[in-house]
Amino acid sequence: MGTQGLGITFLTLPLIMRAAAGGQWCYDSQDPQCGPSHWKELKATCGGSKQSPVNIDRRRLQRDRGLGDILFEGYDQAPPGKWTLTNDGHTVMLSLASELVSEHITISGGGLPGRYRALQLHFHWGSPGGNGSEHTLDGCQLPMEMHVVHMNTKYQTLAEAKGHPNGLAVLGFFFQVSKTPNTNYNTIVAGLRNISHAGDSVDLASTFRLSTLLPRAGRLSGYYRYQGSLTTPDCSEVVVWTVFEEPVEIGREQLQAFVSTLHFPAVGSMLPKMTNNFRPPQPLHSRKVFASRAATASGGSPHRVPHQLLSPLLLLALLGPSLPTP
Ligand SMILES: *[C@@H]1O[C@H](CO)[C@@H](O)[C@H](O)[C@H]1NC(C)=O
Ligand SMILES: *[C@@H]1O[C@H](CO)[C@@H](O)[C@H](O)[C@H]1NC(C)=O
Ligand SMILES: [Zn+2]
Repeated sequence: MGTQGLGITFLTLPLIMRAAAGGQWCYDSQDPQCGPSHWKELKATCGGSKQSPVNIDRRRLQRDRGLGDILFEGYDQAPPGKWTLTNDGHTVMLSLASELVSEHITISGGGLPGRYRALQLHFHWGSPGGNGSEHTLDGCQLPMEMHVVHMNTKYQTLAEAKGHPNGLAVLGFFFQVSKTPNTNYNTIVAGLRNISHAGDSVDLASTFRLSTLLPRAGRLSGYYRYQGSLTTPDCSEVVVWTVFEEPVEIGREQLQAFVSTLHFPAVGSMLPKMTNNFRPPQPLHSRKVFASRAATASGGSPHRVPHQLLSPLLLLALLGPSLPTP
């Protein structure tokens, strides 16, 4: 990919992965013969020991006080260029047409091993009757999940980044259904009708700040961190994962637009609806999932309450032998 623009890097990302897989991959809802249980036949890495997504068991988290706030830069400025929305055959992807802009949308801090620039974001969802997040919380799926994919700025190309365990950083956001629509998603939802077939792409009518797609800034301190992989072939184990506690709210009709508007590539004469485009949770093996300093779920850590907030009396009560363990 050499000196190609990031905007281009962006759009060719899924194509490269498909080529690398040495064959077609898909979700069971498109064709069970190339679904997630077959991916390791296309690419051995998909059967590796650090795969994503995972179930986040909130009773088994390990608190890491080094996981403070992530610094979001460029998330709060509307990019001068247009957002491009693409049906890549597996998901809906939002990318920037211009390299110069995406170079200025970065994340750092929060225990991330470096600075990372945004490449693209995309979604995973379910069916009219079922949730479709990739990560699960205490064994439960949420309705939808968004992934904002970033590449370590010390690498020049995606191929180079994929050679290092800290090459990519992906931010994962759960969605929750709210009574009212989330108007910040109007432009994306309206664009879905224009990309109902695989390969379709549209420049969105209006631009917007990336931060408007996230939960409120004050709610981003609580997150889970672990080392994993891309959740699609080639399943490279190069992703520092951050999954946020606070979900994004979205209206029921808006969620239905994702579930019912788009199509996978044709299978024979059938044109399957793009539904259930999630990979099921993978084994954690020896990995740990860490809770950020401000995450509310602490995994029963004895250090849950900051010491300076404990009155001597409460301390006595907490240490008392008659109390059940938290
Ligand atoms: C689907 O998500 C909702 C939260 O929006 C949750 O209450 C429900 O339990 C989930 N259903 C399943 C089957 O996981
Ligand atoms: C999207 O499709 C509608 C028709 O469904 C059309 O009127 C509109 O111009 C299209 N928008 C873009 C940006 O192509
Ligand atoms: Zn994803």
